[in-house]
Amino acid sequence: MENLNLEGQTILLGVTGSIAAYKSADLCARLTEAGACVYPILSESACKFIQPLTLQILSKNPALVDLWYESEHNLPNHIQLADAADLLLVAPASAHCVAQFAQGLASDLLSTVHLATQAPVIIAPAMNGKMYEHKATQDNLETLQKRGYHFVNPEVGMLACGYEGVGKLASLDSILGKVQSVLT
Ligand SMILES: Cc1cc2nc3c(=O)[nH]c(=O)nc-3n(C[C@H](O)[C@H](O)[C@H](O)COP(=O)(O)O)c2cc1C
Repeated sequence: MENLNLEGQTILLGVTGSIAAYKSADLCARLTEAGACVYPILSESACKFIQPLTLQILSKNPALVDLWYESEHNLPNHIQLADAADLLLVAPASAHCVAQFAQGLASDLLSTVHLATQAPVIIAPAMNGKMYEHKATQDNLETLQKRGYHFVNPEVGMLACGYEGVGKLASLDSILGKVQSVLT
């Protein structure tokens, strides 16, 4: 994706517990290179797949995981982050994260920021095909769609779990294209 200009945009990059979380490093770098101010927010599970430090270095901002960080550090709190955001992008979005968002749960930093922000939300799901096609996941996605959320649908392909099917994280170019179209 060429000519991406995100100067002046503040993007919260949510990363959740999928093997595709490693791709968030490239995504973070490309958003930052395009001029966006990126704040990575990782779920606890995401940290099993990628180090917050990687996203911190690439974004040049603190990579946040813990809802309670603000009591220990002089960093923007979750409401300030939510208010500052021009966009909340979750890539990869796990089935669990989609369920949290659909149910309006505020059980960790990412889901709490999600509830507190009025910025548009882009969801790029990534999961095993059976998880993606499960009625519960599809119902949750439909709920979010009705709420006006934006999606970058997963692709069909060979999945990390060894199955072929739908659930592969969309290409970074597709995700960046959606970011551009939502923000401009
Ligand atoms: C090796 C491994 C890979 C996983 N990959 C995915 C995935 O691609 N998508 C998904 O929805 N869940 C995946 N999971 C399960 C999630 O990590 C789990 O549901 C977790 O609770 C998600 O939490 P989070 O949404 O807070 O990140 C995987 C689990 C393991 C152990």
